[in-house]
Amino acid sequence: MSGSPYIAVVAIDFGTTYSGFAFAFNQKKGEGGIHVNKKWGYDQGAATLKTPTSLLLRPDGKFDSFGYQAEEKYANFLNGEDQEYLYFKHFKMTLHNSKTLDRNTKLTAQNGKLFDALLVFAHSIRYLKDQAIEIIRERTGDRQYCEKDIQWVITVPAIWEPAAKQFMREAACEAEIVSKDAPGQLVIALEPEAASVYCREMKMRDFIREKGDANVSDVFARPGSKYLVIDIGGGTLDVTAHEILANGNIKEIHKVTGGPYGGKKVNEEFVSLLEGFFGTATVEKFRAKNPADWLDVMNEFELKKRGRRAYEGDSTRIRLPRSLTVLISEHGGPDLAGRFARSCRTDDVRFVRNEYLCLGPSAMKKLFEPVSNGIIKHLTQLLKDPILKKLQFFFLVGGFAESLLLQETIKKNFDRRCRILVPNDASIAVMQGAVMFGRQPNIVESRIMSTTYGFGICLPFDPEIHPIEKKKVIEGVDWCDDCFVVMVKENDTVRVEETRKFPNYKPLKASQTHVSFYFYNSTDPNAKYTTDDAVGPSIGKVTVESPDISKGTDRKIDVCVTFGGTEIKATAIDKTSGNTATVYLDFLCSKP
Ligand SMILES: Nc1ncnc2c1ncn2[C@@H]1O[C@H](COP(=O)(O)OP(=O)(O)OP(=O)(O)O)[C@@H](O)[C@H]1O
Ligand SMILES: [Mg+2]
Repeated sequence: MSGSPYIAVVAIDFGTTYSGFAFAFNQKKGEGGIHVNKKWGYDQGAATLKTPTSLLLRPDGKFDSFGYQAEEKYANFLNGEDQEYLYFKHFKMTLHNSKTLDRNTKLTAQNGKLFDALLVFAHSIRYLKDQAIEIIRERTGDRQYCEKDIQWVITVPAIWEPAAKQFMREAACEAEIVSKDAPGQLVIALEPEAASVYCREMKMRDFIREKGDANVSDVFARPGSKYLVIDIGGGTLDVTAHEILANGNIKEIHKVTGGPYGGKKVNEEFVSLLEGFFGTATVEKFRAKNPADWLDVMNEFELKKRGRRAYEGDSTRIRLPRSLTVLISEHGGPDLAGRFARSCRTDDVRFVRNEYLCLGPSAMKKLFEPVSNGIIKHLTQLLKDPILKKLQFFFLVGGFAESLLLQETIKKNFDRRCRILVPNDASIAVMQGAVMFGRQPNIVESRIMSTTYGFGICLPFDPEIHPIEKKKVIEGVDWCDDCFVVMVKENDTVRVEETRKFPNYKPLKASQTHVSFYFYNSTDPNAKYTTDDAVGPSIGKVTVESPDISKGTDRKIDVCVTFGGTEIKATAIDKTSGNTATVYLDFLCSKP
């Protein structure tokens, strides 16, 4: 990035379960290559490439801690502080699930208190940003560097609705990463796209069970190649289909798909297993009374589920804290393990010395089953699309892609059809790829639209096609009200920065000095009227001044829409005066 005004690119990967950042210097201020902090949680006895996405706020809503520190502090509250402090975990999924997301959406903290979602995200992003700036200052020895010296990238799942992507940008503005008047300093990168950029730069030996110094871009990822990028994180499965163009850039060939199939589902299954035996109320009481012990059990399970034991046919031992084994004794009796096993529908669970819960390989596999079945079903359905007939390979990334059990299942189902390539550091592929993407955001040339967009206008009334109740007479002319003009349809291919023009609209009244257009999205690409059920509430309005009324209604006004990376810009142009008005479609406007 020679000539870049920024000293470095920093990419923040804000994950459902884990978050972190990677960075690279543009000039020779620091060392070359992409850097990743490898020591998250060093003080807590961990040393990982990302930190848990957990946030602790003080009772007055001010920031307290994030990541391992937040988890540790929350777990060690002994005097009821947890009733006052606000603790949030796994909150990114709110943006995936919320159909009514807006700037006032609230999140529920662990103690049931409500807090602004935008601020929860902003506090978390601010923490990661401050950590990144601190490291840049250390590496360069220059303490002057701050936000404005850096090109920022934040990653979001590609399957998110536009509202959720916009929400992330606004949270980043709230965290003072960028100011509203310099939006270009922050790139919102789609997670599978970032991973795609990263994987294409690798050598064959950088992938699990592959060998050799050849570049993957010479062996598989050649011009004309078609492939899927499958990002499976803690919360979401995110799948995009790409084709490599002759110039090396990327074209999306199928709209993004996915769903809530992430690694945390395995942990949830484990909790269900405990609940199945002890009863939901008992487990809930235990969690509330012994948060530190609960954290230990869940951390132990998290560690053990990543191991090779179940994959190799061995049992996995999970050490239970005393407070839980007491519960087990209370519920126990000689048939304890048998009852437990029945509750998880396998005969493969044992208690050892009243201290360890031993999950045999089939019990452990059972915990993976619901989520891996969901993933297989999704991919099987997707691959039926004829567009994807000639796929050559999958890039499989994300932390959950590191699971040997999941890799095995995916291989079993698909490796006759495609080569499955998993990078060695699958859990940080997105983060590192996002740094590369920040340097070449135009590498993705075109995308497939997931939604239909349009605007509302009056058209000359035609009794053959328009319902009578839409008829409106203005200055002696019959109009049909609320007509929906499609700007772009679901599944259309749209080049980045492509502008589409809708020319020659006219004012309805001769004396009118301004003209407004309202924009909408629709779940039905063939919607006819803005009042149709499939059409959502307005997501933007643009009003252009048209002061010269000497020609009466015989004035021409054009509407242009430009599709950016993740934003859509609409402009109305009054051709008589040359006046223009522009609006960015706002997906977060409060919905009724
Ligand atoms: N070796 C492994 N075996 C099984 N699961 C694993 C392994 N390594 C990581 N995981 C799981 O992967 C998930 C974390 O992946 P990742 O860090 O990519 O997610 P994220 O970025 O937090 O989530 P998302 O991208 O969905 O927002 C966790 O659920 C973790 O338990
Ligand atoms: Mg992720």
